Amino acid sequence: FPPLSPEQKKALSDIAQRIVASGKGILAADESVGTMGNRLQRINVENTEENRRAFREILFSSDASINQSIGGVILFHETLYQKDSSGKPFPALIKEKGIVVGIKASTCTAPLAGTNGETTIQGLDGLAERCAQYKKDGADFGKWRAVLKITSTTPSQLAIQENANTLARYASICQQHGLVPIVEPEILPDGDHDLQRCQYVTEKVRDSWPSPPLHRSVAHLIQSLRSQISESFDQKAVATVTTLLRTVPAAVPGICFLSGGQSEEEASVNLNAMNQSPLPKPWKLTFSYGRALQASALAAWVGKSENKKAAQEAFRKRAQINSLACRGQYVV
Ligand code: 13P
Repeated sequence: FPPLSPEQKKALSDIAQRIVASGKGILAADESVGTMGNRLQRINVENTEENRRAFREILFSSDASINQSIGGVILFHETLYQKDSSGKPFPALIKEKGIVVGIKASTCTAPLAGTNGETTIQGLDGLAERCAQYKKDGADFGKWRAVLKITSTTPSQLAIQENANTLARYASICQQHGLVPIVEPEILPDGDHDLQRCQYVTEKVRDSWPSPPLHRSVAHLIQSLRSQISESFDQKAVATVTTLLRTVPAAVPGICFLSGGQSEEEASVNLNAMNQSPLPKPWKLTFSYGRALQASALAAWVGKSENKKAAQEAFRKRAQINSLACRGQYVV
């Protein structure tokens, strides 16, 4: 089977560089129907296809200047095929602003027998065909979120290995079809572990990744790691960047953090602190935020079309702050 041609490698590299260009990050708008339902429930809005579409239209129809802070938008399958009120497909609406469209490629979790409640992620069956179709339908990058938990007995070697192999297969399939893979081994923040344990587990997870497909193609990967710790922003920042320096090749163009339950402000301050840390940063350290880019916008919208402008303004404000944070220039 042929490896990637030089042209394929260049095309992937160009896409990755556009997503994480200076001051830019990702809007993760790829909540599944169920997860979006949870977000809508909080503002007393019914979880219908039209309400999900209407909120996404508000985000995607923001003024084109949003492209100064947003380099990519990740969509859920349903959203990739939705349209704005004038009938324009969402991918076209996003791409005309020069923003790259991504697609969630992973599906649901499956239990790993013999572990303490650990899981793997499904979605490899038929992935090549789906990626080929997604590429035709406007997507240029993919996302696959693997979940690992920190407890006194986890993550197990089985969970680490299984998720690493699955991420590697996904990444390779994406690249064969022209999609830049976001490789997301999310280590959940839940638990009472301290900074050292979080750092140890993160490095162990990273060290266990199988080398062949990932390391041959690191230049095209965007990784997403996070650390959840109760120390100061500066301590967390230095520990996180140190871990990344030990484990993520400098050839990776960007590391995009998710917000994972932090408040909007906390997520921005953490990102800013990492970018201000005195350590070398050979990759872009930026954001792939869902909740931390949408919480205020959802609260401003509350399902009412007359609040469109206020919701867009709330989204624009968070995007701008995170753009400053990924350059280490956010002054609280
Ligand atoms: P949150 O920022 O809401 O954790 O989601 C981010 C995400 O899905 C990254 O891919």
